Amino acid sequence: MRLKDKVTLVTGATSGIGKAIATRFAAEGAHVAVNYLPVKQNAEVAEALAKSFATDSIAVAGDVSKRADVERMVRETVERFGRLDIAINNAGIEIKKPFLEATDDEWHKVIGVNLYGSFVVSQAAARQMVAQGGGGKLIYISSVHEDIPFPDNTAYCASKGGVRMMMRNLAIELAPHRINCNNIAPGAIATPINQAVLDDAEAKRNALTEIPWGRFGLPEEVASVAVFLAGDEAEYVTGSTYYVDGGLTQQVTLY
Ligand code: BGC
Repeated sequence: MRLKDKVTLVTGATSGIGKAIATRFAAEGAHVAVNYLPVKQNAEVAEALAKSFATDSIAVAGDVSKRADVERMVRETVERFGRLDIAINNAGIEIKKPFLEATDDEWHKVIGVNLYGSFVVSQAAARQMVAQGGGGKLIYISSVHEDIPFPDNTAYCASKGGVRMMMRNLAIELAPHRINCNNIAPGAIATPINQAVLDDAEAKRNALTEIPWGRFGLPEEVASVAVFLAGDEAEYVTGSTYYVDGGLTQQVTLY
């Protein structure tokens, strides 16, 4: 077990990459606070997930774009487990819309969850880590689009580019506290965010032409990099982005 008794908050943990990370971290011995957006059946999903883990884990409700929710999530985690060692900033949304048609509301929603959410979760988590001492890990699930453009997805790209710069800044500011800050940049992963593409044969074929590895990635393949970054072996790793994209970022379509 590589994360024995590490207390880990995973945001947006009821599906996709977040769920895979929460599941893998628990299998590695971590106590997981399984965050879910408090809408409809999410609470049941999060509670069932936490209960299914071999380690003592909990479900924590909260919208990462709301400071009060985030501070309560961290408080509930610390009340239960006594500390917080790792925060995985995973919660993310995208709203695809041509730039000329995008609305303020859509912009604020995407930036609110992806960028402000990462800011406020990082701040609440880092304040706790500094107060308790002993360092910590902040991990961000950004995207290949922290660097490469994605037409019709401007707010999303801006949010992920913002997460990249925030992480690099925090890597410096939080180094004296021994808090490692790193991004994981997934490419096309088979998760609900890509369901429409996966369900459309032509869109899927087009997507695959962009991926040298010739297939979509699996959420578990992102989780295994997160395990490395969260573990003691990554002690000297900070301020970096790890791509998990089957070579997508290296592919340049010339013609
Ligand atoms: C986006 C997906 C996209 C992938 C590769 C991800 O960040 O959420 O919609 O397929 O990047 O382009």
